Amino acid sequence: MDNIYLPQLVKIVNIKEQSPTVKLFRLAPTQRSGLKKSKFETNDNGLVFIPGQFVLVGQIGYGESPFGPSSSPYENKFIEIVVRKAGTVTNYLHSLKKGDVITLRGPYGNGFPLDFIEGKDMVMATGGCGIPPIASLVEYIIKNKEKFGRIYVLYGARSPEEILMKDRIEEWKKEGIKVILTIDKPALGWDGYVGFVTDLIKEIQINEADAVATMCGPGPMMDALEKVLRPLGISDRRIFVSMERKMQCGIGKCQHCTTGSKYVCMDGPVFYYDEIEKNHD
Ligand SMILES: Cc1cc2nc3c(=O)[nH]c(=O)nc-3n(C[C@H](O)[C@H](O)[C@H](O)COP(=O)(O)OP(=O)(O)OC[C@H]3O[C@@H](n4cnc5c(N)ncnc54)[C@H](O)[C@@H]3O)c2cc1C
Ligand code: FES
Repeated sequence: MDNIYLPQLVKIVNIKEQSPTVKLFRLAPTQRSGLKKSKFETNDNGLVFIPGQFVLVGQIGYGESPFGPSSSPYENKFIEIVVRKAGTVTNYLHSLKKGDVITLRGPYGNGFPLDFIEGKDMVMATGGCGIPPIASLVEYIIKNKEKFGRIYVLYGARSPEEILMKDRIEEWKKEGIKVILTIDKPALGWDGYVGFVTDLIKEIQINEADAVATMCGPGPMMDALEKVLRPLGISDRRIFVSMERKMQCGIGKCQHCTTGSKYVCMDGPVFYYDEIEKNHD
């Protein structure tokens, strides 16, 4: 029987600095693997993972951490993750260079409900390092553009230097995605919005009866949910929140990731807004 904890080995084929504390890693399968699959495989829909799912990336001896891939879910030659330096594993990943080999397990979790969001207007609100899973969802939407209505990405960062994935954001704009950026405080050379993501709501025009909202970010962003998404008039069952919790096994065995009665690794990480309300701790 396959060992469910056994990772595959992946090679870092590219590293792009995103901000002073964040790096993007492009990971490709390695022939040295021999452990599991030697290449990323696609499912019946041609997807390697569902945007919003997570992978566990790390190193034997250092441990693993969950990351929501930021690359296109249709890309089966590599997976990209965007890593903020936070502690043991992420500091280790930041110390690596092109060519180094690390471990990857997954994808795990549920991901965003792709069938449900079809045909809808979309508002994707995120802040700081919450953008990776939104980025892969945007890539999915671009590939299936004819199936969607108006698409907004509302993204807040502390300062212009901390806006991640700037090159990809420019590409999205060319594809007709309405990206609205804001920074917390005025900065030299910045002529965009200043203020929180919550303030951007006034800038969007959607059919609220047929719109879906997604939210991805750490704790304080979740607290802003009320102000950002509720006033849009979108019902709770059309608001999807991606949650971050400490994880270990990733597959419902260790109980490290519980929130209320839910396991973030198995029941999530994407939840309906009203599930989060009951389980937000
Ligand atoms: C589904 C999911 C997707 C994620 N996607 C990304 C991503 O795309 N990019 C990214 O940079 N980070 C992401 N995270 C958060 C990332 O997993 C943590 O920052 C990482 O596990 C920290 O590990 P560490 O060993 O470096 O830090 P540790 O030494 O374990 O801890 C350092 C600090 O980080 C906190 N922390 C540890 N684990 C988590 C966690 N899972 N969530 C929040 N805080 C944590 C600890 O409480 C502590 O304060 C995601 C988390 C989840 C659950
Ligand atoms: S991470 Fe082990 S149960 Fe969720």
